[in-house]
Amino acid sequence: MERIDTLVRTDLEHLIHPLHHPQDHRQPIVMVEGRGAMLTDADGREYIDGLSCLWNVNVGHGRAELAQAAAEQMSRLAFVSSYAGTTNIPAIRLAERLCGLSYPNISGVYLTTGGAESNESAFKMARYYWKVQGRPNKVKIISRVHAYHGLTLGAMSATGMAAFHKMFGPLAPDFLQIPAPYAYRWPSNGDVGVEAADALEKAILREGPDTIAAFIAEPVMGAGGVIPPPPAYFPRVREICDRHNVLLIADEVITGFGRTGRWFALGHWNVEPDLVSFAKGVTSAYLPLGGVLASKRVHDAVQEAPADKKFMHAATYSGHPTCCAVALRNLEILQHEGLIERAGPMGRSLLAGLETLRDLEPVGDVRGLGMMCGVELVSDRKTKTPALGLGGRVVQEARSRGLLARIRVGSADPPIGDTICIAPPLMTPEETLDRVVEILRAAIIAATR
Ligand SMILES: Cc1ncc(COP(=O)(O)O)c(C=O)c1O
Repeated sequence: MERIDTLVRTDLEHLIHPLHHPQDHRQPIVMVEGRGAMLTDADGREYIDGLSCLWNVNVGHGRAELAQAAAEQMSRLAFVSSYAGTTNIPAIRLAERLCGLSYPNISGVYLTTGGAESNESAFKMARYYWKVQGRPNKVKIISRVHAYHGLTLGAMSATGMAAFHKMFGPLAPDFLQIPAPYAYRWPSNGDVGVEAADALEKAILREGPDTIAAFIAEPVMGAGGVIPPPPAYFPRVREICDRHNVLLIADEVITGFGRTGRWFALGHWNVEPDLVSFAKGVTSAYLPLGGVLASKRVHDAVQEAPADKKFMHAATYSGHPTCCAVALRNLEILQHEGLIERAGPMGRSLLAGLETLRDLEPVGDVRGLGMMCGVELVSDRKTKTPALGLGGRVVQEARSRGLLARIRVGSADPPIGDTICIAPPLMTPEETLDRVVEILRAAIIAATR
């Protein structure tokens, strides 16, 4: 085999990575193998996969059944177009299965190959829905500060982190943002859930309800720093959306498929969305797949539209049979191995472990739901001044001790400290979760020294 240092040099010469800056990529880890919750690099070093790679390897690494599902489907029919007039068996079965296991009001699904494309599709479906209803001016999309929705122009415009906009502006028109229900830094002493939901109503009234197509929200904000909502938030958001005829899009790209201890997360608060974007965990990352689940009323708009208003939304790989076959097998694993039920109690025990880090000076907040947790770092606990730069050092120290994690890079405005995000595979053994907490403690101490 070619020497690893030669390969790395070639990488540096030719490969542009997501979030690329050469300085961040001088000594990349070359990963060569994955088993369960562990990854192994080319030098044989093992790491705990503390973020399920990118919050997506829900069933863990090395599942031969998924490789086999792909091989069987590829040998029979690797690909066929799903454009109207042709279909395939794995896509049909997957559509039925997804509608059955998501929210009771869901009746249809459009399949994509990733999260950004799913959100893009959801925005277009929302606009489509209102045009079919004879309300063509309802086009604006409201999202939240700290949100992450993906890299395409629309999804980037809904994303609420300035770093993702800086070199790519201007943003698409008709996207606007409101504050997130971020309890640790909410500016008043009132009920955060109520006040943050009311910010949505104020924005709708200010812009005019006749101009708003949809509100998009991650049930638990992920890449923005793992921000779970207070209990009052989503029920009130649902009421506000209903009152002003605004569709509610749940971006469940991270929270779907068991991450929070349920198939989909808004069930924690008994709320049903109109559209649900998903990706990542649907195949546990073994192949790229995503989609948008549509409630009966949105689905009906597509099904009952006159021919001159047909749903002209086309992606080559929508309904890709091999990706769908892998997804079906992955859903079986999640169900038969009880991984979704397990994520609730295991997540609580992980969060309880992380709570013990509060005795460390830079730990400002610890939060999470299910198997997604965040540890926010501050330079002063009283003033909650964001610690900026510390998170990068903690992640480096953790990596050298065998734990891979990612940070939400903090900012002074809006204030948020570097936040260490932890979201291991749903099957991670309890001893490994304990080890995550031990390593993080050692890494925070070493990085602060
Ligand atoms: C909540 C959320 N939505 C959308 C996306 C974009 O997904 P993708 O990178 O598959 O396009 C992500 C990716 O991390 C995400 O976390």
